[in-house]
Amino acid sequence: MSRHEHWQIAPATPITLHMHEVHVWRASLEQPEAVFWKLQATLSADEFERASCFQFEQHRRRFVVARGVLRDILGRYLGVAANVITFEYETHGKPKLAKAKHPENFCFNLSHAKELALCAITRGHALGVDVEHIHPISDAEQIARRFFSEREAGQFCALPQEQKQIAFFNCWTRKEAFIKALGEGLSHPLDRFEVAFLPGELAALLQTRPDPQEAERWSMFAFEPAADYAGALVVAGKNFALQYWQWQGYGFD
Ligand SMILES: CC(C)(COP(=O)(O)OP(=O)(O)OC[C@H]1O[C@@H](n2cnc3c(N)ncnc32)[C@H](O)[C@@H]1OP(=O)(O)O)[C@@H](O)C(=O)NCCC(=O)NCCS
Repeated sequence: MSRHEHWQIAPATPITLHMHEVHVWRASLEQPEAVFWKLQATLSADEFERASCFQFEQHRRRFVVARGVLRDILGRYLGVAANVITFEYETHGKPKLAKAKHPENFCFNLSHAKELALCAITRGHALGVDVEHIHPISDAEQIARRFFSEREAGQFCALPQEQKQIAFFNCWTRKEAFIKALGEGLSHPLDRFEVAFLPGELAALLQTRPDPQEAERWSMFAFEPAADYAGALVVAGKNFALQYWQWQGYGFD
């Protein structure tokens, strides 16, 4: 995993995204009250409805901030106000920009864990992003045997104990990023493909089944969005340049 990505403070001005670039944004989900209210005001009626279904206030607030930040980010590329952005949803719930209203062909994906959100955006390349908070998991080997491929589970279980925690989340985020790029979520069996995740290994999609050629059609990246978080990104195609942005609530505070 690269630990050297530089998260630039994003300018308040519109941002240009070139064809073979991927922009990855990180944002804190813990925002001051004034920022929270302004973000919430940009949400659509169906997003309000979803927010109201959360049992815990903290989860509700984090969902609102993630959606509000996502709208703000997309608005910077589209050159429109955050509240006029319209989403539509694929069969397994993957949000995308409504084609009729936003024909510019931007693709994006969002992930959030604990206090952090990641959003990745491209021009016309399907993508998936995942972030997880790294924490101790008592039954990591059982989870690996149940969800990872046989080879991944074997590699994971053979690791020295002190390397297991990070390796688990590296493997998990890389696998989730791929199923999110496909848009299939957990309906796509996690043991049907393999990723590189061992300490020192570059992130890569190694094998896909039943079509082995599928693995060559995607690029995989891994990064550390903050201390104790693992992040991964999968994009359709090859030869991408990544740029990392830190979301600041210009105009929101
Ligand atoms: C997609 C999925 C793997 C995400 O898991 P997760 O690690 O808990 O959550 P993350 O924070 O990484 O990602 C959640 C975000 O991914 C996006 N997302 C939702 N479904 C997605 C999908 N199928 N593919 C890609 N991205 C998806 C959303 O923006 C979501 O954020 P939101 O709920 O705040 O809008 C999991 O929710 C899943 O399998 N969903 C499919 C469920 C399904 O089949 N639903 C069908 C009926 S709608």
